[in-house]
Amino acid sequence: MKEKKSEYEKVLQAFALAKSFIKQQIELGFDEVYAQMKTKTNQRPPTSLDEFYHQIKNCKRCHLGYSRTNFVFGSGNHQAKLLLIGEAPGREEDLKGEPFVGAAGKLLDRMLAAIKFKREEVYIANILKCRPPENRDPRPDEIETCKPYLLQQIKLIQPKIILALGRISAQVLLQTKNSLGQLRGKIHDFNGIKFLVTYHPAALLRYQQYKKFAWEDLKFLRKEYEKIVDS
Ligand code: URA
Repeated sequence: MKEKKSEYEKVLQAFALAKSFIKQQIELGFDEVYAQMKTKTNQRPPTSLDEFYHQIKNCKRCHLGYSRTNFVFGSGNHQAKLLLIGEAPGREEDLKGEPFVGAAGKLLDRMLAAIKFKREEVYIANILKCRPPENRDPRPDEIETCKPYLLQQIKLIQPKIILALGRISAQVLLQTKNSLGQLRGKIHDFNGIKFLVTYHPAALLRYQQYKKFAWEDLKFLRKEYEKIVDS
């Protein structure tokens, strides 16, 4: 009797999860879901980052929504030509609700300044919007749940270049298992957007020997950026 009840609860839970997933996809305006569900909705996709932020800021689609202090949506210029994508908020970011404000963020500011970008000029986001406990790596289920948010942000910003900060961001977006060493130093294509890869600033704080490679990546980024801006 007891077992039967827990099976029943599992089914109910699965239905609730599926319902919230479909609802979110519809809110995001994903046509694939309209087609699959043969559902008509009057709700249109967000037309601005602000509108989108208000749609998703209370997200509880995964367990990280229950342990976070703040939802870290992203920050910067809504019309940025350059979009930087990190991994997930850390402790400082969770407390402040902004990406890259801790030690890695300070280094990121210096990296940007070295190639003549101000933070306000670019947009900065992460693969995950909520902090994983103890700063562990994002799990595949968390990535799958959160990735549509980032994809919608990319649609709204329409950057000309994306710089992935670190292996996880690069692997998730390029859907590859290639190492960071294999991915950096090249121009990839992300849905028609130039996509470059470099080390995560937190890795550079730990392993100084990678800084010279990161510097090469940054100069490469600036060169590609200028080509686009001049064209
Ligand atoms: N590391 C990240 O990947 N993102 C942040 O926002 C902060 C640290």
